[in-house]
Amino acid sequence: MSVNWALPFEEKLIPPGYEGKVVPPSVYQAVHKVLTDNYKEYWESVAKELEWFKPWEKVLDDSRPPFYKWFVGGELNLSYLAVDRHAKSWRKNKAAIIWEGEPIEDGKPKEVRVLTYGDLYREVNRVAYMMRHVLGLKKGDTIAIYMPMVPELPIVMLAAARLGVIFTVIFSGFSAQALADRINDSKAKVLFTADGSWRRGKVVPLKEIADKALESTPSVQKVVVLRRIGNNVNMVSGRDYYFDELLKDVPQNVYVEPERVKSEDPLFILYTSGTTGKPKGIVHDTGGYATILHATMKYVFDVRDTDVYWCTADIGWITGHSYIVFGPLLEGVTEVMYEGAMDYPEPDRWAAIAERYGVTILYTSPTAIRMFMRYGESWVTKHNLRSVRIMHSVGEPINPEAFRWFLKVVNPNAVFGSTWWMTETGGIMISHAPGFLLVPMKPGTNGPPMPGVDADVLNDQGNPVKDRERGYLVIRKPWPGMPLTIWGDDERYVKTYWSKFQGVFYPGDFAVKDEDGYFWILGRADEVIKVAGHRLGTYELESALIQHKAVAEAAVVGIPDPVKGEVPVAMVVLKQGYHPSEELKRELNSWVREQVGPIASFADIKFVTKLPKTRSGKIMRRVIKAVLTNAPLGDLTTLEDETSVEEIKRAYEELRKEIS
Ligand code: WT7
Repeated sequence: MSVNWALPFEEKLIPPGYEGKVVPPSVYQAVHKVLTDNYKEYWESVAKELEWFKPWEKVLDDSRPPFYKWFVGGELNLSYLAVDRHAKSWRKNKAAIIWEGEPIEDGKPKEVRVLTYGDLYREVNRVAYMMRHVLGLKKGDTIAIYMPMVPELPIVMLAAARLGVIFTVIFSGFSAQALADRINDSKAKVLFTADGSWRRGKVVPLKEIADKALESTPSVQKVVVLRRIGNNVNMVSGRDYYFDELLKDVPQNVYVEPERVKSEDPLFILYTSGTTGKPKGIVHDTGGYATILHATMKYVFDVRDTDVYWCTADIGWITGHSYIVFGPLLEGVTEVMYEGAMDYPEPDRWAAIAERYGVTILYTSPTAIRMFMRYGESWVTKHNLRSVRIMHSVGEPINPEAFRWFLKVVNPNAVFGSTWWMTETGGIMISHAPGFLLVPMKPGTNGPPMPGVDADVLNDQGNPVKDRERGYLVIRKPWPGMPLTIWGDDERYVKTYWSKFQGVFYPGDFAVKDEDGYFWILGRADEVIKVAGHRLGTYELESALIQHKAVAEAAVVGIPDPVKGEVPVAMVVLKQGYHPSEELKRELNSWVREQVGPIASFADIKFVTKLPKTRSGKIMRRVIKAVLTNAPLGDLTTLEDETSVEEIKRAYEELRKEIS
């Protein structure tokens, strides 16, 4: 098992007040079976609840698997659905986004901005106008967005969606190199960025980082810079423009007709780590994506007009795309958006925010929860969070202890679950569904698959495993929200997700299914590690290491961490003439942080003289990992040189003691 805790298969929890509403798992399974057997009809019924400019001719084009197309012939626009619909209704003056900046002054947030649906409508139209008439962008162009967590970020995304301009958001914690790679792969014409962003009271110099990236991004013709901090930044004449200056002459009431976008037209590209060095540009469509978001907002979050919804993710990741920008706004909810660190300036910043706005639905991560747990419950209980009625976590497995603790300190009457999905799936796939049929909770489980989602757990031969046995998670039937492809690389799309098992989607996770049909996702089955819920490819980190002049070879593995879930550890072989030292360790660490971004921080770097490899020269990371975590070493017959294992064992004697 990959997780280092026992799974409480038999523990069933029913939130007080839900006694009459909870259904037995067998009832859920029966309903799920009917809907999933008839998945095309089921998804069609969900899609019909959205407003389409033109209805589809075919629910699913499955003539060229795995390149499935949903709602073919249909036309819609996500900016129209998320903004215009509400601005034209009674929701015009309803708060869409309550935004809070990070800085605190006299014990209070220094900046709070409330944007109603009417405000959002005005701003999205103005930015769309600017994009079309000043920047000359048109349907099918790509733009890159490297911005902090401020309302202009969703506004830019919605404006792009309005024009059918494909956008790619790059997390503002990524380095210049990572930014440049993503701009170049997507061939973005315009970059939207900011003068800086606030993080833990310090300024992150986004424009400065962008400038470094822009030295090697020939596709970018114009750069739009939002003034967030008000610091002086370098502006290249003829290339760089301030956001506010470009908007100055755009009338307040300008209207840009939303493009009639085809259901299968790409909405965005989002890069994510895989098992090779090059990040994958996951391409999402428009109609299928909207459909899965609508279903999950209804069923998983049970949103109502009286709710105050808060997803604490960053928009730079898929969670923010789906469950800060498009999902909640599609439903017309009021949501909280926060710029900064959850524990800044005090450990209870997040709880103060939840209390201040009366949050009723809270979506956060196991890493955040474990961090709050370390700070102690008094930081939570000094706030009244009883308004919270539904909580979910996402990004990595949640340990039962953290689950029980969070439920207790926030609100023992709430529904709490762990939603499994990934960048590739577009929306939530396996989860408790209080807005549909709630089954009893179990600490740490993901619950049953959503209606229409045909999930299973297979062994190496591709056969379903027994209950409570570990295997590989797969999704058997296509679903709306699935990727169109990997940007510019159809072959890699097929190879990565559709080749391990014939005809089914392989996400790359280990999982267990229990006798109630609940899934327990245990972690990655490939060379990807999850650091604080963020995906990092070990290969990415290794490539960064070997680009350093002192490094001959490197191997990176993830080891368990009590807060972040996993952290990377590197094994490094130095080139002739270089010698192990603490200083070199520090240098390598900051080198990789510079190449990849601050999330790429090693828990430890060890110098060794050789790495365990197969005879064909492949690094055996699983052997390194087994040594470091005191797990059985498994089959070593392909190992070229057994003394390499001995060396790692010695190098790690100390670290192993700390872990166990
Ligand atoms: C990987 C996908 C989906 C938004 C955030 C992550 C892991 C995600 C859970 C969960 C156990 C989870 C999987 C998956 N994962 N949610 N609730 N329980 N594991 O998106 O960066 O694309 O990562 O995150 O390992 O494959 P992502």
